[in-house]
Amino acid sequence: MEQRETCARTAQAPIDASRRKIFRIAALGLAAGVGLHGRSALAIEAVPEALRPVVGDRLVEEDAEGEPVPLKLADLRVGKPLLAFPFDTASKKIRSETRMNKVVLLRLPEAELDAETKAVSAGGVLAFSGVCTHMGCDIKTWMVSEKVFACFCHGSKFRPLDHGSVAGGPAPRPLPVLPIKLEGDQLVIAGPFTAPPGFTPQA
Ligand code: FES
Repeated sequence: MEQRETCARTAQAPIDASRRKIFRIAALGLAAGVGLHGRSALAIEAVPEALRPVVGDRLVEEDAEGEPVPLKLADLRVGKPLLAFPFDTASKKIRSETRMNKVVLLRLPEAELDAETKAVSAGGVLAFSGVCTHMGCDIKTWMVSEKVFACFCHGSKFRPLDHGSVAGGPAPRPLPVLPIKLEGDQLVIAGPFTAPPGFTPQA
């Protein structure tokens, strides 16, 4: 049977935006090395862009200039995954200095969600770590016939309707869930990841 798959839309950050981020990281590293502006390594770790998601953070995409585009419920179409990052409304920074903060969003018909899943979702939108727990590739493909996220690096599959459990492949653990809620029509983080995002290097 023909397999229908849907890949996540990703923000198209042009070279300028990427360069800007690289320069920013380099500048922070330089500041740490030579003590510019009195910044310590500890302070650099604490920059909002590098912190883990915080309750109340908005979920956003980065536009072509690297600026945040808040995500509304209506921006998500059923069965079309989308990659996003947390956004700190206090500092107005996207927490995208670490890809461990990458989030994959998927909207499904609410009738398909059990009570436990509904409790961590918003209007049928589910949020998970966008980083495969096997070796860290992006999770961005939804296989509608199997109702799984697929990672094509080594073939792992995850069930969003069963708390991110592993459906196949070498992934050693589920995709961490990120609880979300709606504030008005905006998608907002409601709790921390249910487990550390990322992967454990293989022996
Ligand atoms: S990194 Fe995803 S299956 Fe290996």
